[in-house]
Amino acid sequence: MTARIVPMTRAHIDALMPYEHEMFGTEAWSYASYRDELADKRFRAYYAAEDTTDGRDGDLLGWAGVMVVGDTAQVLTVGVVPAARRRGIGQQLLDTLLDEARRRGAEQTVLEVRVDNEPALALYRRNGFADLRVRRGYYANGRVDALEMQRAL
Ligand SMILES: CC(C)(COP(=O)(O)OP(=O)(O)OC[C@H]1O[C@@H](n2cnc3c(N)ncnc32)[C@H](O)[C@@H]1OP(=O)(O)O)[C@@H](O)C(=O)NCCC(=O)NCCS
Repeated sequence: MTARIVPMTRAHIDALMPYEHEMFGTEAWSYASYRDELADKRFRAYYAAEDTTDGRDGDLLGWAGVMVVGDTAQVLTVGVVPAARRRGIGQQLLDTLLDEARRRGAEQTVLEVRVDNEPALALYRRNGFADLRVRRGYYANGRVDALEMQRAL
């Protein structure tokens, strides 16, 4: 299954907010944070994955964002709604971010992920991201470590 990937708009923020806390817990962003992220077109690019199925056309399936500063891209977020997981949409979104990063001249990509986030770790590892270092107590108010990962573009 493939989704339609489009630039993210404020309508997508409305659609994703019900999922945000459930998916990101203490790291959840507010509507205002997303609005500010979208407004920064110079350094950031956000995309949404939309359903193309008849009757559900346009429904939000996922979203993702990247920041590119100099030669380094940082994956800021990747999320797929629970009912649409394991259908390749996370991969499609990640491919879109990496393409955008290359277009903007980045030569490497970095990201941070919770050390207990098996689905995300599996997605990133299979896309060539390697472990850089552990950041102790980075998430959940100091309770969960982050793994910093990196890959060349
Ligand atoms: C991580 C996430 C974005 C993956 O999205 P997805 O659309 O389900 O991923 P895909 O279907 O594109 O999976 C691509 C590959 O990633 C790996 N993968 C994804 N989910 C996995 C899981 N639950 N267990 C093991 N491997 C997994 C597999 O290698 C998979 O390929 P396969 O299905 O052919 O085996 C999704 O689980 C999610 O939104 N999680 C909550 C938010 C989050 O943690 N985001 C990442 C923050 S860093």
